[in-house]
Amino acid sequence: MKLVIAGGLFFIFLLAEVKSMTLTPLYGYAHSQYGVHYYTLNASVIGYGTPAGLVGRHSYRSEGITCLMETEQLGVPLHHYQKHGGNLYTTNTTEADNSYTYLGKVGYCYRTQETHTVPLYRYKKTVYNILDHYYTTDANKIGLVTPGTTGNNGYTYEGVACFVYNVKYH
Ligand SMILES: *[C@@H]1O[C@H](CO)[C@@H](O)[C@H](O)[C@H]1NC(C)=O
Ligand SMILES: *[C@@H]1O[C@H](CO)[C@@H](O)[C@H](O)[C@H]1NC(C)=O
Repeated sequence: MKLVIAGGLFFIFLLAEVKSMTLTPLYGYAHSQYGVHYYTLNASVIGYGTPAGLVGRHSYRSEGITCLMETEQLGVPLHHYQKHGGNLYTTNTTEADNSYTYLGKVGYCYRTQETHTVPLYRYKKTVYNILDHYYTTDANKIGLVTPGTTGNNGYTYEGVACFVYNVKYH
């Protein structure tokens, strides 16, 4: 069994049951001025992954660990696209048209719910003409998971991005 967990301080109870995985925290950030979200496994891009609340490079404020992702080729890749400063993370390669810039694979997750995985909920909101997407495993953050309905902070639920490993960090 090979297991690598980079950074962060958290608990995960399922490791003994999982055959072979490489789990890494997916760090979430919100731009301190525009509020648009950015997600990466590489904490060096912004300068740190945790604690939540600090502002790092490119004016992004850490929101802590969003979930854990596979870095080995299991499940399906979560792709990162960007358009006018808004980030889109999707497993669906036909979703983003050629007005988006492709920025590569973030990590791997699952299209259907595997043992010990949870939904990564996806929401959208337009801020300053930027289409922002917000991702969380905690349905209480926005307060709803009915497609097309709008909850806390004006975010509209879009669906499950994919299934990921949860981390009780907050
Ligand atoms: C992580 O980000 C830093 C800063 O942008 C970059 O120099 C480094 O190459 C990145 N590491 C990986 C593994 O992508
Ligand atoms: C992928 O995106 C395309 C374009 O938005 C859509 O028509 C299709 O239904 C999506 N596929 C899945 C599996 O969600």
